[in-house]
Amino acid sequence: MGQICVVGAGHVGLVTGACFADLGNQVTCLDINSEKIERLQKGILPIYEPGLEELVRRNLQAGRLSFTTDYCQAVEPSDFVFIAVDTPSGTHGETEMRFIRSAAEMVGRYVGDGTIIVNKSTVPIGTGDLVAQIIQRVNGHEPFAVVSNPEFLREGSAVSDFMHPDRIVLGSSNREAANAVARLHSAFECPIIVTDLRTAEMIKYASNAFLATRISFINEIAAICDELGADIKVVARGMGLDKRIGPAYLDAGLGYGGSCFPKDVQALSHMAAAHGRRPQLLRAVMDINRDQRRLIVHRLRQLFGSLEGRQIGLLGLSFKPNTDDMREAASLEVTALLIQEGAKIRAYDPEAIEVARPLMRDVTMCSDPYQVAQGADALIIVTEWNEFKQLNLLKVKSLLNYPDLIDGRNIFEPQAMQDLGFVYYGIGRGQKPLAPIAEAVSESVHVKANMASKGPSTKARPPQIPPGGSLGEDRA
Ligand code: UDX
Ligand code: UDX
Repeated sequence: MGQICVVGAGHVGLVTGACFADLGNQVTCLDINSEKIERLQKGILPIYEPGLEELVRRNLQAGRLSFTTDYCQAVEPSDFVFIAVDTPSGTHGETEMRFIRSAAEMVGRYVGDGTIIVNKSTVPIGTGDLVAQIIQRVNGHEPFAVVSNPEFLREGSAVSDFMHPDRIVLGSSNREAANAVARLHSAFECPIIVTDLRTAEMIKYASNAFLATRISFINEIAAICDELGADIKVVARGMGLDKRIGPAYLDAGLGYGGSCFPKDVQALSHMAAAHGRRPQLLRAVMDINRDQRRLIVHRLRQLFGSLEGRQIGLLGLSFKPNTDDMREAASLEVTALLIQEGAKIRAYDPEAIEVARPLMRDVTMCSDPYQVAQGADALIIVTEWNEFKQLNLLKVKSLLNYPDLIDGRNIFEPQAMQDLGFVYYGIGRGQKPLAPIAEAVSESVHVKANMASKGPSTKARPPQIPPGGSLGEDRA
């Protein structure tokens, strides 16, 4: 056990503090955002994270967890000070370090004899040394140690991930300090890797970059599947049964978002380039991910030609299910691209609407998926929330102007959707895309259907796409 201070009561810091408190430690979470701290002191959380509210409230009441904005009150009595402030991307892809620097400065003022500073945030390789230099400068006479202890928490399952880690990674030049942090994690039955600071920091970046690479890899294979008529979901299953590959992070879709993968791949690529290396693979991973969002526009242009004035419905806004986090969410880029084309956007998300609203002022926020479908020309699945998987699809189809559904997360099956009368597109489901965009404008399904019906676009039912076929040959 120990007296712990966590600096930064955000997605990572709050989970870290609440979990350490639940393990019996005395924890003070500190944040510069006084409003956030006042709400936390009342047990009101600034974020949606399954299981976290109950954990915070239980430990608040037990007196093991407290919140403050006062560095002296938080740091001075602590044996361990975890730094979990955010490390966002800078303008050129480098990591914004000002929050780490200011936290280290403030911690430095109040470190006591033998305080162990633990970097929990994802920080550029070498930051452990920087933090030590800052603290040494601010408070040279007190002995202290710095340990890197990167987090591997997924939003939406962060509490579970903290309490059931695959491994604990510790890096330090001070072995005793690393062992003291290892003892904090003695409740977990998992391997503990103790190494140097830089290697521990690199384990975090390499892990996130590899997971992002798997996602861009499967998305590239999905694009080839669409051309060659294979189904990426079955391909991924066939791959994943190989123990050397495993099934995780092989879901094709609109690509990765969140506060980590985009930032960490970019930061690692930037670090490599800054040291004279050419991060070819990391750059390709980012390029593929960027292009995934554009798939939606491509498909819609194929269906409608011009998107000017089209009503497009989005289901899901958060960057992934079970969170309200909108950071680098695919919905942000999809919305911007569609509005650029003159489309009108309606959207619903089970948790993220209030977080998304100020980020998407031109979007009509709806109270449920059916309200989104009402009067929309097409529906896009952007985030795979469970509640979208059991929708009354016949009701959805009856509400849509056209039965067009683009499944950005492959939550439905093409044949079943076509049997229900949808014009269904998934990602990599083997449905050959139509002509290149230029031709699609004149050859678009609904433009030609409207010409044939010689009337304004009412609810003309476009022809069914045969599985793996394309609309071209049916449009004669
Ligand atoms: C975390 C890690 O810190 C980051 O490195 C990782 O890549 C993603 O997860 P996260 O917890 O998601 O970042 O950030 P956020 O939810 O924004 O929380 C950061 C908190 O630190 C905020 O509450 C902010 O107010 C606080 N903060 C920031 C401080 O208390 N002091 C500062 O100087 C800066
Ligand atoms: C990630 C890492 O998993 C975690 O270890 C690290 O600490 C923080 O970053 P997180 O970003 O919260 O966690 O979510 P994750 O579940 O990993 O998904 C990241 C993104 O990849 C999401 O946008 C998700 O939609 C996408 N994704 C994930 C895919 O597109 N396909 C997949 O197969 C898996």
